[in-house]
Amino acid sequence: SLAPLVDAFDRRISYLRLSVTDRCDLRCQYCMPERMQFLPKAEVLTLEEIYRMALGFMARGINKMRLTGGEPLVRRDVIELVRALGRHVGNGLDELTLTTNGTQLAQLAADLANAGIRRINVSLDTLDRDGFAALTRRDQLPQVLDGIAAAKAAGIAIKINTVALRGVNEHELPRLIEWAHGQGHDITLIEVMPLGEVEGDRVDHFLPLTAVTDELERRLTLTPSDHATGGPARYFDIAETGGRLGLISPLTNNFCAGCNRIRVTATGQLYPCLGGGERVDLRAALRSDDPDGNLSAALDQAMRIKPERHHFDISQRGAAPAQPRHMSVTGG
Ligand code: GTP
Ligand code: 5AD
Ligand code: SF4
Repeated sequence: SLAPLVDAFDRRISYLRLSVTDRCDLRCQYCMPERMQFLPKAEVLTLEEIYRMALGFMARGINKMRLTGGEPLVRRDVIELVRALGRHVGNGLDELTLTTNGTQLAQLAADLANAGIRRINVSLDTLDRDGFAALTRRDQLPQVLDGIAAAKAAGIAIKINTVALRGVNEHELPRLIEWAHGQGHDITLIEVMPLGEVEGDRVDHFLPLTAVTDELERRLTLTPSDHATGGPARYFDIAETGGRLGLISPLTNNFCAGCNRIRVTATGQLYPCLGGGERVDLRAALRSDDPDGNLSAALDQAMRIKPERHHFDISQRGAAPAQPRHMSVTGG
């Protein structure tokens, strides 16, 4: 088999985040503007191309794949892709997962479970219906909660992803944690990152997780856990709830030294780092006269140019985001 993927900083890359669409049915204020410019549909990879690309990644030692968006479940043929990739779970892939906003889960959870998805991450920043409608600019909280319940009923393990936002859900975080743990779900808190222009200024909403955990520790007991998912979160066990809390702190606790990830957009652009740097065009490789050879060569190129770390900064009011590309283009 071919050589595993190791970058210039000796990091073994084993986790592929695959964005299947940059479109989304929500408009989270910290993520995108109401009038978002999406990628032209004509440039999006076909399912066949995505699958062929995924096989090329597996041949180079990628053993964990996560489908992302935008919102991956708004792509019409996504279940077909999950089925095709799902056949490699336990035989090439250790894990096939999905990050979703949950709005379509009620309809799709059973299909996802049958196709090989054992665990998903669902984004949910508030349990307050009006607060949800304001933050996402869409009144869809009931659908999301139904979707989470359907995924649980289908036997899928769930991790809730909550972006911690000052003045938005700051005071609701303990209740979100208690709710998630009460339902049997893990929950991870995330620091907002400066990716792409939005209507407000993220500086106003940035909440360092150092401050959040100081506050949480006034009422909860957090013990570092050795639980690991291969993602950027550090985990803690909470004695009072019996549940697990993850923290993703790109701004206050840089985790780039342990990076094992790369990401590909729906149009086949590989971004070695979420924070920036050059990209590699996998679509051109896939559409060349030697797709497999050129894809593998493109992956070697990605390993040579993967930056050591991001340089996110969210302290300068009015500053343009460090990274002009929105999270929804790369799926994080
Ligand atoms: P697990 O498999 O459960 O560990 O998932 P994950 O945390 O890797 O994936 P998820 O899609 O749930 O991402 C959670 C958050 O982490 C999102 O806000 C992502 O944008 C962010 N994230 C994922 N990978 C990276 C990364 O390499 N760098 C940074 N800065 N953020 C990342
Ligand atoms: N900073 C941090 N997290 C973000 N997400 C979307 N945009 C941002 C941002 N700018 C989160 C979503 C979801 C995950 C995939 O990324 O809320 O949980
Ligand atoms: Fe959509 Fe996720 Fe961005 Fe919200 S954070 S607008 S759900 S891609």
